[in-house]
Amino acid sequence: MHESQRLRAVQSPIIPVIADLIRAHPGTISLGQGVVGYGPPPAAAAAIERFLADPANHKYQSVAGIPPLLAALAEKLAAEHGVRVGPGHGNRVMVTAGGNNAFLAALLAIADPGDEVILPTPYYFNHEMAVTMANCRPVLVSTDAGYQLDVAALRAAITPRTRAIVTVSPNNPTGAVYPAATLRAVNALCAERGIFHLSDEAYASFTYDGAEHFSAASLPGSAAHTISLFSMSKAFGFASWRIGWMVLPETLAPALRKIQDTIVICPPVISQYAALGALDAANGGGAAFVFEKLRGIARVRAIVQRELAALAAEDICEVPPAGGAFYFLLRVRTHSAESTSLALAERLIREHGVAVIPGSAFGLDRGCHLRVAYGALAADTAAEGLGRLGRGLRALAT
Ligand SMILES: Cc1ncc(COP(=O)(O)O)c(C=O)c1O
Repeated sequence: MHESQRLRAVQSPIIPVIADLIRAHPGTISLGQGVVGYGPPPAAAAAIERFLADPANHKYQSVAGIPPLLAALAEKLAAEHGVRVGPGHGNRVMVTAGGNNAFLAALLAIADPGDEVILPTPYYFNHEMAVTMANCRPVLVSTDAGYQLDVAALRAAITPRTRAIVTVSPNNPTGAVYPAATLRAVNALCAERGIFHLSDEAYASFTYDGAEHFSAASLPGSAAHTISLFSMSKAFGFASWRIGWMVLPETLAPALRKIQDTIVICPPVISQYAALGALDAANGGGAAFVFEKLRGIARVRAIVQRELAALAAEDICEVPPAGGAFYFLLRVRTHSAESTSLALAERLIREHGVAVIPGSAFGLDRGCHLRVAYGALAADTAAEGLGRLGRGLRALAT
Protein backbone atom coordinates (compact mmCIF):
# COMPACT_ATOMS: atom_id res chain seq x y z
CA MET A 1 0.00 0.00 0.00
CA HIS A 2 1.39 3.40 -0.86
CA GLU A 3 0.44 7.02 -1.33
CA SER A 4 -0.89 8.29 -4.65
CA GLN A 5 1.43 9.29 -7.49
CA ARG A 6 -0.08 12.74 -7.18
CA LEU A 7 1.09 13.19 -3.59
CA ARG A 8 4.49 11.73 -4.30
CA ALA A 9 5.12 14.71 -6.57
CA VAL A 10 4.24 17.26 -3.87
CA GLN A 11 7.13 18.85 -1.95
CA SER A 12 7.20 18.44 1.83
CA PRO A 13 6.40 21.60 3.73
CA ILE A 14 9.52 23.26 5.14
CA ILE A 15 8.00 24.85 8.25
CA PRO A 16 7.83 21.56 10.26
CA VAL A 17 11.46 20.79 9.29
CA ILE A 18 12.61 24.14 10.67
CA ALA A 19 10.31 23.73 13.70
CA ASP A 20 11.99 20.37 14.51
CA LEU A 21 15.41 21.99 14.30
CA ILE A 22 14.25 24.82 16.57
CA ARG A 23 12.94 22.29 19.13
CA ALA A 24 16.26 20.47 19.03
CA HIS A 25 18.07 23.74 19.82
CA PRO A 26 16.22 25.37 22.72
CA GLY A 27 16.62 29.13 22.97
CA THR A 28 16.62 29.60 19.20
CA ILE A 29 14.95 32.86 18.14
CA SER A 30 12.56 32.19 15.29
CA LEU A 31 12.48 34.60 12.37
CA GLY A 32 10.77 31.74 10.59
CA GLN A 33 7.03 31.31 10.63
CA GLY A 34 4.80 33.84 8.91
CA VAL A 35 2.45 34.69 11.74
CA VAL A 36 1.59 37.71 13.86
CA GLY A 37 2.23 37.77 17.59
CA TYR A 38 -1.28 38.80 18.65
CA GLY A 39 -4.69 37.15 18.82
CA PRO A 40 -8.14 38.37 17.75
CA PRO A 41 -9.83 41.42 19.29
CA PRO A 42 -11.96 40.68 22.40
CA ALA A 43 -15.10 41.23 20.31
CA ALA A 44 -14.35 37.90 18.59
CA ALA A 45 -14.72 35.99 21.87
CA ALA A 46 -17.85 37.93 22.75
CA ALA A 47 -19.45 36.88 19.45
CA ILE A 48 -19.00 33.23 20.42
CA GLU A 49 -21.61 33.78 23.14
CA ARG A 50 -24.07 34.56 20.35
CA PHE A 51 -23.03 31.39 18.53
CA LEU A 52 -23.67 29.33 21.67
CA ALA A 53 -27.01 30.98 22.38
CA ASP A 54 -28.66 29.36 19.37
CA PRO A 55 -28.73 25.52 19.36
CA ALA A 56 -29.31 25.56 15.58
CA ASN A 57 -25.73 26.75 15.22
CA HIS A 58 -24.52 23.24 15.95
CA LYS A 59 -26.05 22.09 12.68
CA TYR A 60 -24.51 22.63 9.24
CA GLN A 61 -25.03 26.14 7.99
CA SER A 62 -24.98 27.79 4.57
CA VAL A 63 -22.28 26.47 2.21
CA ALA A 64 -21.09 29.94 1.22
CA GLY A 65 -20.98 31.36 4.74
CA ILE A 66 -23.43 32.80 7.26
CA PRO A 67 -25.36 35.76 5.79
CA PRO A 68 -24.29 38.40 8.35
CA LEU A 69 -20.62 37.59 7.77
CA LEU A 70 -21.10 37.68 3.99
CA ALA A 71 -22.71 41.12 4.39
CA ALA A 72 -19.88 42.37 6.62
CA LEU A 73 -17.29 41.12 4.13
CA ALA A 74 -19.07 42.81 1.21
CA GLU A 75 -18.96 46.06 3.16
CA LYS A 76 -15.28 45.63 4.03
CA LEU A 77 -14.35 44.82 0.42
CA ALA A 78 -16.06 47.99 -0.79
CA ALA A 79 -14.72 50.23 1.97
CA GLU A 80 -11.12 49.03 2.06
CA HIS A 81 -10.41 47.71 -1.42
CA GLY A 82 -12.93 49.38 -3.72
CA VAL A 83 -14.28 45.94 -4.64
CA ARG A 84 -18.03 45.77 -5.16
CA VAL A 85 -19.62 42.36 -4.85
CA GLY A 86 -23.08 41.05 -5.56
CA PRO A 87 -25.36 39.99 -8.40
CA GLY A 88 -25.18 43.40 -10.08
CA HIS A 89 -21.40 43.19 -10.24
CA GLY A 90 -20.93 39.75 -11.80
CA ASN A 91 -19.28 38.23 -8.76
CA ARG A 92 -19.92 36.67 -5.35
CA VAL A 93 -18.18 36.44 -2.04
CA MET A 94 -17.77 33.08 -0.32
CA VAL A 95 -16.37 32.42 3.16
CA THR A 96 -13.70 29.70 3.22
CA ALA A 97 -11.74 27.80 5.84
CA GLY A 98 -8.78 30.13 5.27
CA GLY A 99 -6.90 31.36 2.23
CA ASN A 100 -5.20 28.03 1.54
CA ASN A 101 -8.57 26.28 1.40
CA ALA A 102 -9.76 29.00 -0.97
CA PHE A 103 -6.75 28.57 -3.26
CA LEU A 104 -7.20 24.83 -3.67
CA ALA A 105 -10.96 25.24 -4.15
CA ALA A 106 -10.40 27.90 -6.83
CA LEU A 107 -7.88 25.69 -8.57
CA LEU A 108 -10.24 22.70 -8.64
CA ALA A 109 -12.91 24.98 -10.08
CA ILE A 110 -10.82 26.27 -12.99
CA ALA A 111 -8.17 23.69 -13.92
CA ASP A 112 -8.14 20.13 -15.22
CA PRO A 113 -5.31 17.63 -14.78
CA GLY A 114 -2.43 18.63 -17.04
CA ASP A 115 -3.43 22.28 -17.16
CA GLU A 116 -0.81 24.92 -16.38
CA VAL A 117 -0.84 27.57 -13.68
CA ILE A 118 1.72 30.37 -13.82
CA LEU A 119 3.44 31.08 -10.52
CA PRO A 120 5.91 33.95 -10.30
CA THR A 121 8.99 32.90 -8.31
CA PRO A 122 9.71 32.96 -5.50
CA TYR A 123 6.29 31.42 -4.89
CA TYR A 124 4.30 30.78 -1.70
CA PHE A 125 5.05 27.08 -1.21
CA ASN A 126 1.45 26.02 -0.50
CA HIS A 127 0.44 27.45 -3.88
CA GLU A 128 2.97 25.28 -5.66
CA MET A 129 1.94 22.29 -3.56
CA ALA A 130 -1.75 22.86 -4.34
CA VAL A 131 -1.10 23.12 -8.09
CA THR A 132 0.82 19.85 -8.05
CA MET A 133 -1.77 18.20 -5.81
CA ALA A 134 -4.47 19.13 -8.34
CA ASN A 135 -2.44 17.29 -11.02
CA CYS A 136 -1.70 20.57 -12.74
CA ARG A 137 1.68 21.89 -13.80
CA PRO A 138 3.20 24.89 -12.04
CA VAL A 139 4.91 27.07 -14.65
CA LEU A 140 7.51 29.13 -12.85
CA VAL A 141 8.34 32.65 -14.04
CA SER A 142 11.14 34.62 -12.38
CA THR A 143 10.55 38.03 -10.87
CA ASP A 144 13.16 40.77 -11.34
CA ALA A 145 16.03 41.74 -9.02
CA GLY A 146 13.61 43.70 -6.84
CA TYR A 147 11.16 40.75 -6.77
CA GLN A 148 8.74 42.66 -8.98
CA LEU A 149 6.66 40.99 -11.68
CA ASP A 150 8.00 40.78 -15.22
CA VAL A 151 4.77 41.10 -17.20
CA ALA A 152 6.47 40.36 -20.54
CA ALA A 153 7.83 37.10 -19.10
CA LEU A 154 4.38 36.20 -17.75
CA ARG A 155 2.92 36.82 -21.20
CA ALA A 156 5.60 34.66 -22.83
CA ALA A 157 4.82 31.80 -20.43
CA ILE A 158 1.17 31.50 -21.51
CA THR A 159 0.33 28.40 -23.57
CA PRO A 160 -2.98 26.89 -24.69
CA ARG A 161 -2.96 24.86 -21.42
CA THR A 162 -2.61 27.90 -19.14
CA ARG A 163 -5.60 28.43 -16.87
CA ALA A 164 -4.40 31.14 -14.50
CA ILE A 165 -1.70 33.56 -13.42
CA VAL A 166 -1.23 33.76 -9.67
CA THR A 167 -0.15 36.99 -7.99
CA VAL A 168 0.52 37.54 -4.29
CA SER A 169 0.69 41.17 -3.20
CA PRO A 170 1.88 42.06 -0.60
CA ASN A 171 4.10 39.08 -1.21
CA ASN A 172 5.14 36.07 0.77
CA PRO A 173 8.12 35.44 0.82
CA THR A 174 9.53 38.73 -0.51
CA GLY A 175 7.45 41.46 1.14
CA ALA A 176 7.20 43.11 -2.30
CA VAL A 177 4.08 45.15 -3.00
CA TYR A 178 3.12 45.27 -6.67
CA PRO A 179 2.11 48.68 -8.01
CA ALA A 180 -1.47 49.09 -9.22
CA ALA A 181 -0.20 49.54 -12.79
CA THR A 182 1.49 46.12 -12.74
CA LEU A 183 -1.56 44.35 -11.37
CA ARG A 184 -3.71 46.16 -13.91
CA ALA A 185 -1.41 44.90 -16.68
CA VAL A 186 -1.56 41.31 -15.38
CA ASN A 187 -5.33 41.49 -15.08
CA ALA A 188 -5.67 42.86 -18.62
CA LEU A 189 -3.33 40.14 -19.91
CA CYS A 190 -5.53 37.49 -18.29
CA ALA A 191 -8.65 39.01 -19.86
CA GLU A 192 -6.98 39.18 -23.26
CA ARG A 193 -5.86 35.53 -23.15
CA GLY A 194 -9.05 34.15 -21.56
CA ILE A 195 -7.41 32.94 -18.35
CA PHE A 196 -8.03 33.69 -14.68
CA HIS A 197 -6.15 36.12 -12.49
CA LEU A 198 -5.82 34.38 -9.13
CA SER A 199 -4.94 37.14 -6.70
CA ASP A 200 -3.88 36.19 -3.17
CA GLU A 201 -4.32 39.19 -0.89
CA ALA A 202 -3.78 37.55 2.50
CA TYR A 203 -1.48 40.44 3.48
CA ALA A 204 -3.71 43.25 2.17
CA SER A 205 -3.57 45.08 5.51
CA PHE A 206 0.22 45.04 5.80
CA THR A 207 1.88 47.89 3.92
CA TYR A 208 4.49 50.41 5.09
CA ASP A 209 6.38 53.53 4.02
CA GLY A 210 3.63 54.71 1.69
CA ALA A 211 3.26 51.43 -0.24
CA GLU A 212 -0.37 50.82 -1.11
CA HIS A 213 -2.27 47.60 -1.55
CA PHE A 214 -4.26 47.30 -4.77
CA SER A 215 -7.03 44.79 -5.47
CA ALA A 216 -7.34 43.77 -9.11
CA ALA A 217 -11.01 42.98 -8.44
CA SER A 218 -11.62 46.73 -8.09
CA LEU A 219 -10.92 47.17 -11.81
CA PRO A 220 -13.96 47.72 -14.02
CA GLY A 221 -14.59 44.68 -16.21
CA SER A 222 -12.48 42.36 -14.02
CA ALA A 223 -15.27 40.35 -12.37
CA ALA A 224 -15.53 37.57 -14.96
CA HIS A 225 -11.88 36.50 -14.81
CA THR A 226 -10.64 37.58 -11.36
CA ILE A 227 -10.57 35.41 -8.26
CA SER A 228 -9.39 37.22 -5.13
CA LEU A 229 -8.41 35.47 -1.91
CA PHE A 230 -8.37 37.10 1.51
CA SER A 231 -7.64 35.85 5.01
CA MET A 232 -8.44 36.70 8.61
CA SER A 233 -5.32 34.79 9.69
CA LYS A 234 -2.77 37.57 9.65
CA ALA A 235 -4.61 40.85 10.11
CA PHE A 236 -6.90 39.64 12.88
CA GLY A 237 -4.57 37.14 14.59
CA PHE A 238 -6.93 34.40 13.43
CA ALA A 239 -4.53 31.78 12.05
CA SER A 240 -5.97 28.82 13.95
CA TRP A 241 -9.60 29.87 13.48
CA ARG A 242 -9.44 29.09 9.75
CA ILE A 243 -11.45 31.85 8.16
CA GLY A 244 -10.79 33.49 4.80
CA TRP A 245 -12.94 34.60 1.90
CA MET A 246 -12.94 34.58 -1.84
CA VAL A 247 -14.38 36.94 -4.43
CA LEU A 248 -15.29 34.78 -7.41
CA PRO A 249 -16.87 35.24 -10.81
CA GLU A 250 -20.59 34.54 -10.79
CA THR A 251 -20.04 31.85 -13.42
CA LEU A 252 -17.89 29.81 -11.02
CA ALA A 253 -20.42 29.91 -8.18
CA PRO A 254 -22.00 26.49 -8.97
CA ALA A 255 -18.57 24.79 -9.24
CA LEU A 256 -17.33 26.34 -6.02
CA ARG A 257 -20.51 25.34 -4.21
CA LYS A 258 -19.85 21.72 -5.18
CA ILE A 259 -16.24 21.92 -4.04
CA GLN A 260 -16.98 23.65 -0.75
CA ASP A 261 -19.87 21.28 -0.02
CA THR A 262 -17.58 18.30 -0.62
CA ILE A 263 -14.55 19.54 1.33
CA VAL A 264 -15.82 21.46 4.36
CA ILE A 265 -19.66 21.48 3.87
CA CYS A 266 -19.58 24.87 5.51
CA PRO A 267 -16.73 26.91 6.97
CA PRO A 268 -16.56 26.39 10.78
CA VAL A 269 -19.57 28.31 12.05
CA ILE A 270 -18.14 29.15 15.47
CA SER A 271 -15.18 30.76 13.69
CA GLN A 272 -17.52 32.66 11.39
CA TYR A 273 -19.23 34.16 14.45
CA ALA A 274 -15.82 35.03 15.86
CA ALA A 275 -14.89 36.67 12.53
CA LEU A 276 -18.07 38.70 12.60
CA GLY A 277 -17.13 39.91 16.06
CA ALA A 278 -13.56 40.67 14.98
CA LEU A 279 -14.83 42.84 12.12
CA ASP A 280 -17.13 44.84 14.40
CA ALA A 281 -15.64 48.33 14.50
CA ALA A 282 -18.16 49.48 17.10
CA ASN A 283 -16.75 46.96 19.58
CA GLY A 284 -13.01 47.39 19.18
CA GLY A 285 -12.58 45.28 16.05
CA GLY A 286 -12.43 46.16 12.37
CA ALA A 287 -9.88 48.28 10.53
CA ALA A 288 -8.91 50.34 13.61
CA PHE A 289 -7.85 47.17 15.46
CA VAL A 290 -5.64 46.13 12.56
CA PHE A 291 -4.20 49.62 12.16
CA GLU A 292 -3.14 49.71 15.80
CA LYS A 293 -1.43 46.31 15.52
CA LEU A 294 0.25 47.40 12.31
CA ARG A 295 1.89 50.32 14.13
CA GLY A 296 3.57 47.86 16.50
CA ILE A 297 4.73 45.65 13.64
CA ALA A 298 6.06 48.71 11.78
CA ARG A 299 8.22 49.57 14.81
CA VAL A 300 9.70 46.06 14.79
CA ARG A 301 10.15 46.28 11.03
CA ALA A 302 12.25 49.43 11.46
CA ILE A 303 14.63 47.54 13.78
CA VAL A 304 14.87 44.64 11.33
CA GLN A 305 15.40 46.96 8.40
CA ARG A 306 18.18 48.86 10.20
CA GLU A 307 20.09 45.65 11.01
CA LEU A 308 19.65 44.29 7.50
CA ALA A 309 20.82 47.57 5.98
CA ALA A 310 24.06 47.20 7.99
CA LEU A 311 24.57 43.70 6.55
CA ALA A 312 23.88 45.00 3.06
CA ALA A 313 26.38 47.84 3.58
CA GLU A 314 29.01 45.22 4.43
CA ASP A 315 28.12 43.42 1.20
CA ILE A 316 27.06 40.29 3.07
CA CYS A 317 23.66 40.23 1.45
CA GLU A 318 21.31 42.21 -0.75
CA VAL A 319 18.01 43.28 0.76
CA PRO A 320 15.54 44.19 -1.99
CA PRO A 321 12.81 46.67 -0.99
CA ALA A 322 9.89 45.12 0.89
CA GLY A 323 7.04 47.54 1.49
CA GLY A 324 4.55 44.96 2.71
CA ALA A 325 3.60 41.75 4.51
CA PHE A 326 6.16 41.05 7.28
CA TYR A 327 9.04 39.58 5.37
CA PHE A 328 12.39 40.42 3.89
CA LEU A 329 13.98 37.99 1.47
CA LEU A 330 17.75 38.32 1.66
CA ARG A 331 20.00 37.44 -1.22
CA VAL A 332 23.10 36.20 0.56
CA ARG A 333 26.46 36.52 -1.16
CA THR A 334 28.10 33.14 -0.99
CA HIS A 335 31.10 31.98 -2.92
CA SER A 336 30.93 28.37 -1.93
CA ALA A 337 28.96 26.07 -4.20
CA GLU A 338 27.77 23.85 -1.36
CA SER A 339 26.27 26.64 0.73
CA THR A 340 22.67 26.03 -0.22
CA SER A 341 20.03 28.06 1.53
CA LEU A 342 18.87 25.00 3.48
CA ALA A 343 22.39 24.18 4.66
CA LEU A 344 22.91 27.81 5.70
CA ALA A 345 19.57 27.92 7.52
CA GLU A 346 20.47 24.73 9.40
CA ARG A 347 23.84 26.11 10.48
CA LEU A 348 22.24 29.38 11.60
CA ILE A 349 20.01 27.41 13.95
CA ARG A 350 22.67 24.97 15.20
CA GLU A 351 25.53 27.42 15.58
CA HIS A 352 23.90 30.81 16.08
CA GLY A 353 20.47 30.14 17.61
CA VAL A 354 18.43 31.93 14.96
CA ALA A 355 15.91 30.42 12.53
CA VAL A 356 15.01 31.70 9.07
CA ILE A 357 13.36 29.96 6.10
CA PRO A 358 15.60 28.89 3.21
CA GLY A 359 14.78 30.23 -0.25
CA SER A 360 14.67 26.69 -1.63
CA ALA A 361 11.23 26.35 0.01
CA PHE A 362 9.96 29.07 -2.31
CA GLY A 363 11.31 27.60 -5.53
CA LEU A 364 14.62 29.47 -5.51
CA ASP A 365 17.33 26.99 -6.29
CA ARG A 366 19.84 29.39 -7.79
CA GLY A 367 21.68 31.67 -5.37
CA CYS A 368 21.24 31.61 -1.63
CA HIS A 369 18.13 33.29 -0.24
CA LEU A 370 16.81 33.48 3.31
CA ARG A 371 13.39 34.73 4.40
CA VAL A 372 13.25 36.78 7.57
CA ALA A 373 9.79 37.06 9.14
CA TYR A 374 9.15 39.71 11.79
CA GLY A 375 5.36 39.68 12.31
CA ALA A 376 5.43 37.91 15.66
CA LEU A 377 8.48 39.53 17.28
CA ALA A 378 8.73 41.86 20.26
CA ALA A 379 11.21 44.70 19.69
CA ASP A 380 13.88 43.26 22.01
CA THR A 381 13.61 39.78 20.48
CA ALA A 382 13.88 41.31 17.01
CA ALA A 383 17.07 43.15 18.00
CA GLU A 384 18.59 40.01 19.55
CA GLY A 385 17.47 37.79 16.64
CA LEU A 386 18.87 40.14 14.02
CA GLY A 387 22.08 40.45 16.03
CA ARG A 388 22.45 36.66 15.91
CA LEU A 389 21.60 36.57 12.22
CA GLY A 390 24.21 39.23 11.52
CA ARG A 391 26.90 37.39 13.50
CA GLY A 392 25.90 34.12 11.84
CA LEU A 393 26.01 35.48 8.31
CA ARG A 394 29.32 37.26 8.91
CA ALA A 395 30.73 33.93 10.07
CA LEU A 396 29.11 31.60 7.57
CA ALA A 397 28.23 33.43 4.40
CA THR A 398 31.50 33.74 2.59
C1 LIG B 1 0.33 34.27 0.55
C2 LIG B 1 -0.42 33.47 1.56
N1 LIG B 1 -1.64 33.04 1.27
C3 LIG B 1 -2.36 32.31 2.15
C4 LIG B 1 -1.83 31.99 3.39
C5 LIG B 1 -2.62 31.12 4.30
O1 LIG B 1 -3.67 31.80 4.83
P1 LIG B 1 -4.80 31.05 5.66
O2 LIG B 1 -4.30 30.90 7.07
O3 LIG B 1 -5.95 31.99 5.54
O4 LIG B 1 -5.04 29.73 5.01
C6 LIG B 1 -0.57 32.42 3.74
C7 LIG B 1 0.00 32.06 5.05
O5 LIG B 1 1.17 32.18 5.31
C8 LIG B 1 0.16 33.17 2.80
O6 LIG B 1 1.40 33.58 3.08
